[in-house]
Amino acid sequence: MIYSRIVSSGAYLPSDVRTNDDLAKIMDTSDDWIRTRTGIAERHIAADNETCTDMCEKAALAALQDAGLEARDIDLIVVATSTPEYLFPSTAVLLQHRLACRDIPAFDVSAACSGFIYALSTADAYIRSYSARKVLVVGADLFSNSIDWTDRNTAVLFGDGAAAVILEAAATPGIFGFCLHSDGSFADLLSIPKGAGRARVNPDAQPPYLQMQGREVFKVAVKSLANLVEELLDKYETRADNLDYLVPHQANLRIIKATAQHLNMPMEKVILTVDKHANTSAASIPLALDFGIKSGKIKRGNKLLLEAFGGGFTWGGCLLTY
Ligand code: UT7
Repeated sequence: MIYSRIVSSGAYLPSDVRTNDDLAKIMDTSDDWIRTRTGIAERHIAADNETCTDMCEKAALAALQDAGLEARDIDLIVVATSTPEYLFPSTAVLLQHRLACRDIPAFDVSAACSGFIYALSTADAYIRSYSARKVLVVGADLFSNSIDWTDRNTAVLFGDGAAAVILEAAATPGIFGFCLHSDGSFADLLSIPKGAGRARVNPDAQPPYLQMQGREVFKVAVKSLANLVEELLDKYETRADNLDYLVPHQANLRIIKATAQHLNMPMEKVILTVDKHANTSAASIPLALDFGIKSGKIKRGNKLLLEAFGGGFTWGGCLLTY
């Protein structure tokens, strides 16, 4: 048997930090509302000339350096993003060129805020099937270009960023496994309605901005994540009190607290970055993971539960030993 394990991580956040008070100057909102309803205090916003690939490159270089590896050591690149620079080539292929990797396979995975979990499961499957030994997995999203900055319902919630991990083949886990789900009947509750394959009739029917029915998304997210964490613990015969840290998708502190409460885990065992990063979609879990590791909270041998919920709907989780 062969398994995969995370050997390193790296993160990148754009330098422009926008606080809640900054947003209150341009729309009808307040620091108090945003903090109370979401836990968000500030978010990073990409520069005008900065692309999703730029962010991926910086996160990937940090992860390579952290592992003491060169780009030529990598066998596969998987990028989770819903905000690629082009419809094609994929962000992963642009990254392969930027990093000067060998002509290895490289592709994107699109699963919105659950994208990193989906990408990690893909990388894990490649390693377990002996198709790759070292995989670069990146989660990156640049939503600030797809947000209606006059819509307070969505504009206050998101930030830009990227983070990466390197997965390597190992004789022992590492990653125990995944539970992944989707339900496209909820597509209209959370979407960015633009793409090359839309019908030509009535092209202006929906503006190409991120749109979300927050209250409905919230309800389904809390319920689905509660079921998901139970499913993961059952499937891999683990008890919540054996977990060292919960590393959740960082959309809303209230959703995170509900999941932690369901697991009966104290908040000290939950990695939180939502206050500083807001919702960075596919980047949110690897950013939180990197923060947890670099801040010295997450240590080698710790048992982690990663979970995410997002557009689609998609949702999924992973149990691993770091
Ligand atoms: O990552 C993918 C998954 N996404 C999520 O998980 C997000 C899920 N949803 C949420 O996090 C929450 O539903 C929100 C943070 C989006 C909204 O919180 P809420 O407690 O569900 O608020 P609400 O939508 O029910 O709105 C309450 C009130 C409304 O006013 P009325 O109708 O009660 O008068 C909104 O118009 O708050 C108002 N409101 C705001 N007020 C100040 C909405 N956005 C804002 C704002 N500032 N930015």
